[in-house]
Amino acid sequence: MADVTAERGVADGLRGLGRAVILLGPPGAGKGTQAQRIAQRYQLPHLSTGDMFRDNIQRETDLGKKAKPLMERGELVPDEIVLGMVEERIDQPDCANGFVFDGFPRTLRQADDLERICREHHLRCTAVLHMVVNPELLMRRLTGRRICKAGGHIYNVFDRPPKREGICDVDGSELIHRPDDSEGVIGERLAAYDRQTQPLVEYYIRQGLLSPVDAMANADVVTEAIARVLDGANALK
Ligand code: AP5
Repeated sequence: MADVTAERGVADGLRGLGRAVILLGPPGAGKGTQAQRIAQRYQLPHLSTGDMFRDNIQRETDLGKKAKPLMERGELVPDEIVLGMVEERIDQPDCANGFVFDGFPRTLRQADDLERICREHHLRCTAVLHMVVNPELLMRRLTGRRICKAGGHIYNVFDRPPKREGICDVDGSELIHRPDDSEGVIGERLAAYDRQTQPLVEYYIRQGLLSPVDAMANADVVTEAIARVLDGANALK
């Protein structure tokens, strides 16, 4: 299904959007699921700050050592660390025609800094998709999530199970349960979202950049809703 969507995007001549696309929503809203699809459809790099931290933790870098205890507790990593990492990534040539953010920005300071970075890179105005989900759904989505070790493909043991238990349908690699997807840590992550990230909804409404999306719908329906917003924004310039 994802391949068909990507082909349609390319056929439409949509190679990149020249803007930052932000998927904003609580843990479990489906940001990663949709970012993979949107990145493929518009031929944009998918930038997940959570994945960048997990990669640093696995490689035991200094940055990973700082982030690990905070992520294990469900707290945010300090802005200075996140911003240095993000700015370095956006400076790479593949980001010249825009990118899809999943998990960034998460604080008002991060949002301000992103706008500065976009101006410096001469990108068009940012598109922010607010993924709206009933909070009761989030615990089920997160405790049931399994992620493929090799390619990051996302499953859910309740709603979107793999054909063979513990094995990715796409590349046959092992599926893992993220350590911060335990009930106790999920509670902390949701509280951090309410405290530090929810204010971004108002921030982007004031800037006229926010488009709400019903993220409780089937994942294919959510992808089409996001694409309609992005195609509309693209037509407006
Ligand atoms: P991060 O990795 O960004 O995690 P998160 O924001 O908590 O989001 P998740 O990845 O848990 O959920 P998602 O919305 O991507 O949902 P998904 O698509 O997987 O951050 C982890 C940690 O890193 C943070 O706690 C923090 O410590 C640190 N960090 C990262 N960025 C930071 C920043 N900018 N500043 C400071 N600290 C930072 O879907 C979830 C499940 O639901 C899956 O099983 C999926 O199959 C299912 N699903 C998805 N969509 C649907 C649908 N439409 N219908 C049914 N099921 C669905």
